[in-house]
Amino acid sequence: MANDQKQFWNNRHELASPAHVLANGEVTAFALEVQSVISPQSVMLEIGCGVGNDSLYFASKGHTVVSTDLSEVAIKKNKIRNNADNVTFQVLDISRPTPFEAMKFDVIYARLSLHYFSDKVTKQIFKELSRVLKPGGYLCFLCKSVDDTSYGKGVELEKDMFEDAGHVRHFFSEKYALECLGKDFAVELLQKGEEHFYTRDSAYVKVIAKRV
Ligand SMILES: C[S@@+](CC[C@H](N)C(=O)[O-])C[C@H]1O[C@@H](n2cnc3c(N)ncnc32)[C@H](O)[C@@H]1O
Repeated sequence: MANDQKQFWNNRHELASPAHVLANGEVTAFALEVQSVISPQSVMLEIGCGVGNDSLYFASKGHTVVSTDLSEVAIKKNKIRNNADNVTFQVLDISRPTPFEAMKFDVIYARLSLHYFSDKVTKQIFKELSRVLKPGGYLCFLCKSVDDTSYGKGVELEKDMFEDAGHVRHFFSEKYALECLGKDFAVELLQKGEEHFYTRDSAYVKVIAKRV
C-alpha cells in the first residue's frame, strides 16, 4: 500500500500546478492558528509537508523545522526552493518508524497527512509521534472527516477507509481522533468544521493536543 501511495503522490507532485497543493507562498489558516499557540523558537516536525509553505512560514517565525513528506518529488522541489537555514526538507514515510530520538520535538504539525492509513497503522503512528514529542509539546493535526463529501466513494478497505481512483483516505470522526490520541495527550482543541481546501469544500476534524 505505502509504495502504491508513494507513486500516487509522486505523480501528483510532478505536475506543475497540482490541484491538491497550495499556491506558492500561501499559508494555511491551520498554520496561523498553530503559530498563535506554540512557544517561540520551537523545534518542529511537519509530516506530509507537500509544497512546504507552512514549514517555510513557521521558519519565518523563528522556529526550527524538520519538514518531511513521503514524496521524493515534493522534497526535491522544496529543497530547490528553500533558502532558509532553519528548515530541513527530508523524505519520510510516516507509516514506518522514524529515525528521530525520543522527545526531540516541541511541536508536531500534520495538515491533511494522517488520514491515509489503516486503523492499525494509524495507531502505530500516533504512538511514534508520542515517543518523539517532548512532554508538554504540541501535536497539531487536521484530517478529512466522515462528513466530507468524498466519504464513502470508491472501494471500502476497512471502517471509514476508502480507495477511490487510486487515492486512499481514512476519514476521521472526533471520537476516532480521541481514540488515536489515547492517554498520552491532553486535548486543548478538538473541532470539526468545513473549509475550502485547494479546489473544493471539505469537512475536517482538527486537534491541538499536549503531550502529558
Ligand atoms: C493533501 S497533501 C497535504 C500537503 C500539505 N500538508 C497541505 O496541507 O497542503 C498530503 C501530503 O501527504 C503526503 N503523504 C502521503 N502519504 C504519506 C506518508 N505515508 N508519509 C508522509 N507523507 C505522506 C503526500 O505526499 C502529500 O504531500
